Amino acid sequence: MNAEFHQTGLSPDADWWRQAAVYQIYPRSFADSNADGLGDLPGITAKASYLQSLGIEAVWLSPFYPSALADGGYDVDDYRDVDPRLGTLEDFDGLLAALHHAGIRLIVDIVPNHSSNRHVWFREALAAPPGSAARERYIFRDGTGPDGSQPPSDWLSHFGGSAWTQVADGQWYLHLFSPEQPDFNWDNPEVREDFLGTLRFWSDRGVDGFRVDVAHGMAKDLSEPLRSRPTPDPRITPDDGTDPLFDRDDVHRIFAEWRKVLNEYDPPRAAVAEAWAPTAPRRALYARPTGLGQAFNFDLLEANWEPETFGTIIATNLAEAGLSGASSTWVLSSHDVVRHASRYGLPPGVDFQAWLLSGGSSPAEDRNVGLARARAATLLMLALPGSSYLYQGEELGLFEVADLPESVLQDPIWARTGQREKGRDGCRVPLPWTADAPFFGFSTTQPHLPQPAWFGPLSVASQDADPGSTLQFYRRALRLRRKLRSAETLSWVQGHRPDVLHFVRPGGWHSISNFGPEPVALPEGEVVITSGPLVKGTLPVDTAAWVIADS
Ligand code: NOJ
Repeated sequence: MNAEFHQTGLSPDADWWRQAAVYQIYPRSFADSNADGLGDLPGITAKASYLQSLGIEAVWLSPFYPSALADGGYDVDDYRDVDPRLGTLEDFDGLLAALHHAGIRLIVDIVPNHSSNRHVWFREALAAPPGSAARERYIFRDGTGPDGSQPPSDWLSHFGGSAWTQVADGQWYLHLFSPEQPDFNWDNPEVREDFLGTLRFWSDRGVDGFRVDVAHGMAKDLSEPLRSRPTPDPRITPDDGTDPLFDRDDVHRIFAEWRKVLNEYDPPRAAVAEAWAPTAPRRALYARPTGLGQAFNFDLLEANWEPETFGTIIATNLAEAGLSGASSTWVLSSHDVVRHASRYGLPPGVDFQAWLLSGGSSPAEDRNVGLARARAATLLMLALPGSSYLYQGEELGLFEVADLPESVLQDPIWARTGQREKGRDGCRVPLPWTADAPFFGFSTTQPHLPQPAWFGPLSVASQDADPGSTLQFYRRALRLRRKLRSAETLSWVQGHRPDVLHFVRPGGWHSISNFGPEPVALPEGEVVITSGPLVKGTLPVDTAAWVIADS
């Protein structure tokens, strides 16, 4: 079945992932083909030529599996099927074939830390008694306190509140995220074996790689008594591998087994860890060739638009990538954070959740500044050695939809924090394809999250027609990046003011970014792209350029 499309537009390079531009699709918000308001797989297939026109090397597809959507699809009912609202396995094969035909690889999201509470194994666990084999696939414990009415430990969920929920017979189960996402017990051989089968299932169908959700959380120290964490906040992890829940040294035994399976394929399947490791050296452990091979580096995504911060992050991560043998990864936006065109238009240090609670009004967002910086940051990122992960809609310069009415919010964070944080829906609003069709061409019916009126001029069709648009800018940058790609190194060019970052890649490809108010002279050579207009031939504030030096 798959033989045909294995031989189509793909480069045979087994190392394709090392410097790939990967475009993340959040499938329920990309394109709706069947008028139910939810994006789906045939909707993506129909946009294959759009994806090809972007000039990306790969798509990362967020979860498309059957799910009650308690957490945007990261609550998986069945790891080897497609949500019927999104299509069928045949639709998946059709999407993969269309992408491969367009020369685009496909990375699927795999969610091994937890299943959904509708997964057949969890249903079996609930029906089985305490101590049974069915309960051993998850993490069930008796409660504490005289009558067991208190949770087994003080561990907290990422989405707020205790990480334990009690079931009818009095036992409790662990969920690092929402109660609908029970954590697997990775000490259980059946769990380990089953996921190897899932990796083979998708690899046999022809997928090129996996994005591994919560890779840093899978191995846990469950020895009794359960230990408190040094800091209860699940976002903070010590850097010595001894935390009971996160970034434990023993997690790498799991990924060594995975790597053996991924290497059974030709080319070996790629994998990238979503590992919130506390330091770059700890992150590098996930990225070893004997492990997953690559790990997300979220440092830029968490940074303010500041030259010193950007410079340090780049230098540190390139040095660490060198140690592990992996290539670096770079990310500015994803389905989990406020879009970078909005972040950069807000004062540094702003609390994004408080800003969202104000409906995006306090403090006010400066969209001109935000977009100029976002385009400059993107151009800077795309010049770096390693792979860049882009999030759907950033190529349109979309801003966060900060004023979604409370009644439409879907993110479990909203309820779990007692409505103190609105969560991540504002970056997950369905894409605008045209300005003049209902629902901006995303669907013919009301989308699952409402789109704001200002999406119109930012739609694909509007920007197609405008050579200065953000969409055309992304296309040009991504095409040039393919041509200019060189060895995975850079040299810093000194002699500028501290608010200018300037480096050169082998082959004389210069990247210059101006974070400061004074204009900067460009090096001699051909200016192949700029993120905004030059002023009298110089690079103004919040602007970046690529220059090919005269040889
Ligand atoms: C990380 C995913 O990116 C996020 O969207 C999800 O909520 C958590 N993992 C839990 O699966």
